[in-house]
Amino acid sequence: MLSKVKSMSLMGVCGYLVEVQVDVAYGIPSWDVVGLPDTSVREAKERVRAALRNVGIDFPSRKVIVNLAPANTKKEGPYFDLPIAVGIIMDLEYIRCDNIAEYVFIGELSLDGKINKINGILPMCIEAYNLGIKKAIVPYENRKEAGVVEGLEVYPAKTLSDVIEHLNGGRPIERYQTDVQALFSNERKYEFDFSDVKGQESIKRALEIAAAGGHNCLLIGSPGSGKTMLARRLPSILPDITFKESLEITKIHSIAGTLPSNEALITYRPFRAPHHTVSSVALVGGGSFPKPGEISLAHYGVLFLDELPEFKRNSLEVMRGPLEDNQVTISRVSGTLTYPCDFMLIASMNPCPCGYYGSKEKECTCTPNQITKYMGKISGPLLDRIDIHIEVSPVKYEKLESEEKAESSETIKKRVNNARAIQSQRYEGTDIICNAGLTPAMINKYCKLGKEEKEILQSAFQRLGLSARAHSRILKVARTIADLAGSEEIKVEHLAEAIQYRSLDRKYWS
Ligand SMILES: Nc1ncnc2c1ncn2[C@@H]1O[C@H](COP(=O)(O)OP(=O)(O)OP(=O)(O)O)[C@@H](O)[C@H]1O
Ligand SMILES: [Mg+2]
Repeated sequence: MLSKVKSMSLMGVCGYLVEVQVDVAYGIPSWDVVGLPDTSVREAKERVRAALRNVGIDFPSRKVIVNLAPANTKKEGPYFDLPIAVGIIMDLEYIRCDNIAEYVFIGELSLDGKINKINGILPMCIEAYNLGIKKAIVPYENRKEAGVVEGLEVYPAKTLSDVIEHLNGGRPIERYQTDVQALFSNERKYEFDFSDVKGQESIKRALEIAAAGGHNCLLIGSPGSGKTMLARRLPSILPDITFKESLEITKIHSIAGTLPSNEALITYRPFRAPHHTVSSVALVGGGSFPKPGEISLAHYGVLFLDELPEFKRNSLEVMRGPLEDNQVTISRVSGTLTYPCDFMLIASMNPCPCGYYGSKEKECTCTPNQITKYMGKISGPLLDRIDIHIEVSPVKYEKLESEEKAESSETIKKRVNNARAIQSQRYEGTDIICNAGLTPAMINKYCKLGKEEKEILQSAFQRLGLSARAHSRILKVARTIADLAGSEEIKVEHLAEAIQYRSLDRKYWS
């Protein structure tokens, strides 16, 4: 006899349907899995055999063939243990269930029959729902993220016996649903707040602009000037996330296995700060068992690269493409995968190896050659992709001592939200959400300059020796500054402030 059970697998951040066909026939005892399984899928047979024995089902000495359809995509991972086991049990007639076609089964088995948590449940359940599947049996530990998919009946199972009992109608599993409304109505608190930072008003202003327009940012300053402290507070002033963004973020973390086990959805903007020893694969994604990298884990949030020149040059260069495209494509033998990565890059660095070049506090002990070599670790093209460059000087002692309470993140965030609202209204109906994403055609349309402004930009261009890319970046930042001021036109003061955020190129890199 032949039994057919539905399951799901993953391609990039999308789930796709896999039909598990099982045939248990009389013949020389053997077991074959066909349909391009990789090693982890082939190993399913050992786990399934042991799990069946341990739930009291005698595995027959027969010829078992498992086919995973469609046969033209490579199947990876342990997702098929549960559907294969269910298929075999159906074939052996331990399960009598008329509506098996309404179900999708996803889960890895332990030898004792326990169903283990797996990665990527959310995108798989979303796709199952899109395909019109009504019911999903998922590992108990994945119930919260699966329960987010409204309209899909989610049945969390702890063991294979639970599944058998449920399908036979003996002891039905209770349906699980996550209360998405409640998750979003909770006030989202961030660990760090800008009110802890004394003084540094100009830097906070620059970070506010960065947050308002989604611009990448580089902080340059001496040790202890507060670069790390400031960068860590950035997520607290970014606009609140929408349900759609939250789903996109959670999908990626679900696949990567970085979703905290007690959370159904990620309802805050991610902040990723990989160490500078990170490999290029860990940064952009990929690997023999492909996973999203740090840039994708920072999707709709912040990627913080502290001590930028310490990163391997190769790691930084592979980020250039994704920084422009907001997605990363990974080539594999079995095809290509795409992961989204729309993140804000915040980088910090010292201006030289000793850290005090250009500092008023302490004398720099580096030779010009050492400084050039150090700064040269950041390539021009990468630098060009960073809209805002900020010089951070240490806060004055009097400011540190003062009792005066600095502006809170909440107040700053209100202004950011207003500027973002103007942008979303302006770019309605396009893929663009903020000024940082403007295409050249849109820059021409939305960042028009008056005569006086044009002259200022032209002279700044000659004075600072800027590249064509810097030109469009200045216009985008000026657009954001005008939006923060609630101004329809980009005026002289907006443009002048935007130009100032590119003037460090000349000081440190010429
Ligand atoms: N403006 C400030 N207000 C309050 N505390 C500050 C401020 N600036 C610096 N500090 C204090 O100094 C510490 C060091 O700052 P931080 O680690 O951010 O410096 P940094 O610029 O990243 O230095 P490094 O280049 O060595 O990494 C902070 O943890 C904080 O306690
Ligand atoms: Mg630091």
